[in-house]
Amino acid sequence: MPQLTVEGFPTIEVEAGKRLVLAIEQDAGVDILHACGGNARCTTCRVEFIEGEPDMMTVAERQVLTAKGVSGVRLSCQIPCDHDMKVRAISRLTGSGRPDPGGPPAPEITPPPEWIPKES
Ligand code: FES
Repeated sequence: MPQLTVEGFPTIEVEAGKRLVLAIEQDAGVDILHACGGNARCTTCRVEFIEGEPDMMTVAERQVLTAKGVSGVRLSCQIPCDHDMKVRAISRLTGSGRPDPGGPPAPEITPPPEWIPKES
């Protein structure tokens, strides 16, 4: 099983292939935001990778990061936990002023993923 470390929290093992946003919230117990419900629209599920940044990304992730002019972060709702990762949770409910983290992301990546190399 892949190991996940959210900076400042204990390293945990997560079910292979689990959405990173859900692993951070449910397994690591970190109050990450997911305002659009995991649909690659809001970017509030953003994380910074310290180790293990995936080489591939979904077209939906690329499009929303480009549209919002955001760089240096990845969208945890668009990433499966298929290898060891260490991330920094930079977008959390605590201190956000929001009433809740957002609707619950589905178990599988939405919209249905189309994969491209992250640098293409
Ligand atoms: S982009 Fe909205 S939850 Fe990931």
